[in-house]
Amino acid sequence: MTLPAPYRPSIHFTPETSWINDPNGCIYHQGLYHLFFQYYPDDIKWGPMHWGHATSPDLIKWSQHDIALYPDSSLGAIFSGSAVNDKHNVSGLFNDDKGLIAFYTSHLERKAPLGPLQQQCIAFSKDNGFTWEKYEKNPVITNPGIPDFRDPKVIYHEESGHWILIAVAGQQVNFYKSLDLLTWEDAGVFGKDQHNDSLVWECPDLMQLQDQYGTSYWVLFISCVSSQEKPFPPMQYFIGEFDGHTFKETHQDDRVNVVDDGYDFYAAQSFFEAKSESDKPIWLAWANHWPYANLIPNDGWRGTMSLPRELSLLKKANEIALAQQPISAVSDHFTHTSTASENTLILPTAAGTVHKLSVRLPNANQSSANFEVKAGASQSAIFNWDSSSKTFSLDRSALKPEHFHDLYDQLVVADLSKEMAETDILSADIYIDQSIIEVFFFDGERVMTSLVFPNTTFSSFVSHTEQLNTTYSMVTI
Ligand code: FRU
Repeated sequence: MTLPAPYRPSIHFTPETSWINDPNGCIYHQGLYHLFFQYYPDDIKWGPMHWGHATSPDLIKWSQHDIALYPDSSLGAIFSGSAVNDKHNVSGLFNDDKGLIAFYTSHLERKAPLGPLQQQCIAFSKDNGFTWEKYEKNPVITNPGIPDFRDPKVIYHEESGHWILIAVAGQQVNFYKSLDLLTWEDAGVFGKDQHNDSLVWECPDLMQLQDQYGTSYWVLFISCVSSQEKPFPPMQYFIGEFDGHTFKETHQDDRVNVVDDGYDFYAAQSFFEAKSESDKPIWLAWANHWPYANLIPNDGWRGTMSLPRELSLLKKANEIALAQQPISAVSDHFTHTSTASENTLILPTAAGTVHKLSVRLPNANQSSANFEVKAGASQSAIFNWDSSSKTFSLDRSALKPEHFHDLYDQLVVADLSKEMAETDILSADIYIDQSIIEVFFFDGERVMTSLVFPNTTFSSFVSHTEQLNTTYSMVTI
């Protein structure tokens, strides 16, 4: 099925052509955000992985560049990983004092009974990230005898003065440390006993986040492959301590810490040492879901990244939770504010228009609400707030492509019971950029990301609940 051109989002990164998945090598360097990504240039399906490359001055407008890394005949395809700035040339790979180093997993297909071989490798760039050379002594971390060993994320740990590499190994995260970015020593392991309903962990990230009082915590993120029988949230996080060796969870909740309540937010990666205007780490994710990723409608390209989001923690009573908000460069762009009158709004349909609906429902612990965003006469994204179960849901079944995955008929549900225990006002900011809807609840304490596939552009908002206050703003790129 062909996705008509107007469905390409305008403030979300998409490739010019072909297949993409995870963001890789995210780094801010010399005034540009570099986004590398899992890329298969020869098809619109997942295949032998390369690292594609794009840059942006503001994380909104992107330019795509030449492929950064190609698979090689001896070590295989280029799976996910990260990038750092070797400012002091500790690696000795650079002649002067500047250079970027990328860490990736080499994935080599081998005949049965051996199976694939995944190992950690590096490549370096002497021209600020535009061309890359593979390190001749790859791999830098060899496979310890397991099938799934991948997705290295490297950070600098001030306290210990070491570089730290984390990689997933089955259902755990392995930690390594290094002084020169080339030789890596085992440092620790996390995860053996942790919420292991998922099959395999993928794409870890580790960072320090502050709560609203300025207290810092270490937060470890993972993406999870789950089985159809036992579905598991695509991404989860752990809050705790990191001593330069391993991570210890210190704030356990009775429920899994879900990063995003939608199906379509995966393999998120933070930008190396980049901070938003309010001094918070920034990340973005692949907005897709493996069970149907290879089936989504396409128009010669397939795959979208999420909005760039800044990350922090919110402390309430004895609990701490992740908060995500679009970076201000995104949210400040929205203008032409209007208020829904009689609970309806005609949405502009000019190419490149992105909508933002801010809905507020007073007395929300007692009253339910229902509203929809319509595309033409018969298709709509239906939003529902159920005050008895304290759940907010998106029904996107009317936006389902032909012959698509059954999962798409299921409601996308955010359980807001914890958040609503502290307020009586439901608030949600809904960003709609053609085929992607991101809902930020309250101050970003919960987020819900969903792909949608209407046959025509969204053109109206209709609320079926009188008490709902809705303001609208937009941006056209
Ligand atoms: C996550 C993932 C990674 C892997 C890459 C391969 O989406 O499965 O674990 O490195 O995609 O494309």
